[in-house]
Amino acid sequence: MGIYVNENENTFLLTNDEISYLFRIMENGQLEQLYYGKQINYTGHFQRFVERSYRSVSVGEFTGDLVTSLESIKQEYPSFGGGDFREAAFEVELENGSHVMEFKYAGYEIRAGKHKIPDLPATFVNDPGDASTLQIKMKDDLTQTELLLNYTIFEKYPVIARAASIHNDGGQTLMLKRMMSASCDLPDCDYEFVHLSGAWGRERHLYRTPLRPGIQAVGSTRGSSSHIHNPFLLLARKTTTEHTGEAYSMSLVYSGNFLGQVEVDPYRISRIMMGIHPSKFNWVLPPGGAFHTPEAILVYSDQGFHKMSQAYHRLYNHHLIRGKYAGRERPIVINNWEGTYFDFNEEKILTMAEQASKLGVELFVLDDGWFGKRNTDTTSLGDWFVNEEKLPNGLGHLSKKINALGMKFGLWFEPEMTNGDSHIMREHPEWVVGTPHRQRKQGRHQYVLDFSQPEVVDYVFSLMDQILSSANIEYIKWDMNRCISEAYSCGLSAKAQGEFFHRYILGVYKLYDKLIQKYPDILFESCASGGGRFDPGMLYYAPQTWTSDDSDGIERLKIQYGTSYVYPISSMGSHVSSIPNHQVGRMTPLDTRANVAYFGTFGYELDPCALEQQEIEQIRKQIAYCKKHRRLMATGDFYRLLSPFEGNETAWMVVDEKKEKAVVGWYQVLSEPNEAYKRVKLTGLEEAAIYYIEELDSAYSGSELMYMGITLTPKINEVMDFNILDKRDFSSKLFTLVKIDR
Ligand code: DGJ
Repeated sequence: MGIYVNENENTFLLTNDEISYLFRIMENGQLEQLYYGKQINYTGHFQRFVERSYRSVSVGEFTGDLVTSLESIKQEYPSFGGGDFREAAFEVELENGSHVMEFKYAGYEIRAGKHKIPDLPATFVNDPGDASTLQIKMKDDLTQTELLLNYTIFEKYPVIARAASIHNDGGQTLMLKRMMSASCDLPDCDYEFVHLSGAWGRERHLYRTPLRPGIQAVGSTRGSSSHIHNPFLLLARKTTTEHTGEAYSMSLVYSGNFLGQVEVDPYRISRIMMGIHPSKFNWVLPPGGAFHTPEAILVYSDQGFHKMSQAYHRLYNHHLIRGKYAGRERPIVINNWEGTYFDFNEEKILTMAEQASKLGVELFVLDDGWFGKRNTDTTSLGDWFVNEEKLPNGLGHLSKKINALGMKFGLWFEPEMTNGDSHIMREHPEWVVGTPHRQRKQGRHQYVLDFSQPEVVDYVFSLMDQILSSANIEYIKWDMNRCISEAYSCGLSAKAQGEFFHRYILGVYKLYDKLIQKYPDILFESCASGGGRFDPGMLYYAPQTWTSDDSDGIERLKIQYGTSYVYPISSMGSHVSSIPNHQVGRMTPLDTRANVAYFGTFGYELDPCALEQQEIEQIRKQIAYCKKHRRLMATGDFYRLLSPFEGNETAWMVVDEKKEKAVVGWYQVLSEPNEAYKRVKLTGLEEAAIYYIEELDSAYSGSELMYMGITLTPKINEVMDFNILDKRDFSSKLFTLVKIDR
């Protein structure tokens, strides 16, 4: 791994065994992107990567020069207002109303390791030898403004982390109108645009469409990264598959409004960029002021989607997720939400907990409804004190009782919200987001607290702190159940209203920081009506996210498959719920519900007291199975085998680093009559090794499992026995492999 600067050619090369990233300083002092992709060896001639052509109608950089036009040059961090008419990475308004900036190269610095970004989540390294960072300094002489572009290359991954900052060292107040985390111009446009999009209950489904001239984008202006689009984009060749072909991707370490876009220009250059959504974004930069973007993680894969996902999984597991639970198996949860909704009391909770402890559950999570007068979702958010009608002996007593059953105790909060009927709304209406003299609209009967105001964050912290110090609470589910409308803060001047959304999310991060500092061992699970804020920014604070409110095993196939493009399975909250399923009414069998949920952070979302004896036996076995294999699930490599977006079957597997253990899940949505032979081909195994498959009671070579596959049709002696055949909709199979001596 290294960063090489060639001062004769004015080139900068970031390279490791997997990738190379190359750019240069142009004659006008701006930066030109030259190459990004598979690692290339340096022969001393990067000048020949520069491409130019005569463009008669273009604006030239130099008087009389019709060749050097920014319009058709691949840029590194393009600016607005010069000769480049594509979308810019940043835009600044001067006091005189002009938007033209001329940042020119002013130096560089190389450091071992990686910068922290003030107030923002970001990837990190514990050992400075794991990454190197190049910082390029650009200067606009007229305004005395400095632009810093940071590039970190990691030793072991095909990854470049990028972020930028701007510093106003001049005398006038500037207005930052747009500032992307990264922008990169790729030399052609023979790609398909792949993104993770959906809605509540069907988050992060995979979409793949051909690129066309113009702009294609995903984004959010809802105040959170959202159910609708994920802060991730991917360009793949038409021929790219799971294990072959090129894939260029960006993932944003941020939880607020974002934009990820691709612009194909007339010369077939594809400009990809990602960062804070410029819509409604304005940041006042007074003299001496600075602004830092969130970080974008660029992954290049020359071997398809799997290699890309593996890079994200490993990077996020080892260099983003922090704390006691990073890289470790998580406790098996039972959450009472779908079991009781708001209808519970201490006795009911303790009966559920007792039954759950007998099944082997390790953590009881008391969801919404434990505070204020919260018997419906119309009241009490923000009143973070115990509902004594439901829990007359308080949380201290409840947590002790649950701990005495051998389980940890966890609690639900929705820190960013309040209801009309709440203490905050009565005492501090100025702490609630809303535009003066206009209606504040409700979402799920609730309003959003103005987390851009530091005193609001401090107040919510003090309430949560009181609760957390009153009982042994070892887990928090942090929910967020509405988007932000009528965005406005009475803590900001008229000119600074464009800062609201970013300041709001900085407030959310601040509260997480304060809680983690005081309670470092609490396991946080983030949630936003299920998967409305499943993003890398959240993972920095909360090692797991409630993947979706849709808890049906069959629905979860697409959700978890799509989510796995970027996020490690250890970060996906994944529970078995009761049937008929509360979101889709489906009667998915209990084994299939668990066979899906094992590939995530496992738990239950039901009333364990309502189970039949046969279900109790089955759940005991499921929990024992999970305990035996969860280390593998938390730390192994995840492989997608069959896509739910392409057919009736889904399959995936996890293999440990030494290729000695693996678990495979195979799922079929609808049963078929007179079906074709079926087999599932595994991957990631050692060809010559012998693996024993517990469920088949047979041994196979790794090569047989990978190239012939496991045959899913019945064994020859079972073909005529219709009682044995597993003929049902929503069926699944689990295969547990262990390497054995020959
Ligand atoms: C939405 C979450 O996604 C659910 O799991 C549950 O916690 C409810 N909110 C509670 O109101």
